[in-house]
Amino acid sequence: MDEPIEQQLAEVAAKASQCTACRLAQTRTNVVFGEGNPRSPLVLVGEGPGEQEDATGRPFVGRAGQLLDKALHDAGMKRKHVYICNIVKCRASEVVNGRVRNRAPLPDEIQACLPWLDAQLTIIRPLVIVCLGAPSASLIIHKNFKILQERGQWFTSRWAPAAIATLHPAYILRQAGASFQQGYQYLVQDLLAARQKVIELRRLQEEQKLLPPNEEGQLSLF
Ligand code: URA
Repeated sequence: MDEPIEQQLAEVAAKASQCTACRLAQTRTNVVFGEGNPRSPLVLVGEGPGEQEDATGRPFVGRAGQLLDKALHDAGMKRKHVYICNIVKCRASEVVNGRVRNRAPLPDEIQACLPWLDAQLTIIRPLVIVCLGAPSASLIIHKNFKILQERGQWFTSRWAPAAIATLHPAYILRQAGASFQQGYQYLVQDLLAARQKVIELRRLQEEQKLLPPNEEGQLSLF
């Protein structure tokens, strides 16, 4: 018998907390492995931790996280209904004019971190993945993903039968006025589409009896 998935994930998280596979290990405060319901059929994958996430060890707890929470709420979900993680588990930062600021993770950092994400998604086996932003979509869906053209469309992924990308909440926060409203509307719309897709895939699974319906621990929301 396999260990429960919570235990499998905890073992991988413990190993990840010691990771020195790339330069980000030298500047991080905490490895931000991921959190939420590991039995959820829906996993959200962001880019990487920012300042607040690095300080707390939890994903999406800063301003972008607050916007994500609001969008989840507007799509009828809470954090406990999903699992949230990032493509890189340590904060990527740089010093500009004496101030530390976030930067995008470099390709070699993304590759160095991939075994952790791979292990995580292989254990969770989500039905649906929502990629938050282009770097996540490029890794999970296909290279050279064009977020403004391809968001809101369905793809398959090696880690899930259905994957969709949406705008990153931090990108939306950088927009003003109508652009902000439009971006936020897309985020909610794409999260709702993901929730609907879970319901649809669950129904198909039940019809085909591929998986027992309502496995223990799965929430009845979907
Ligand atoms: N942005 C991300 O991509 N991930 C986080 O955890 C926080 C902000």
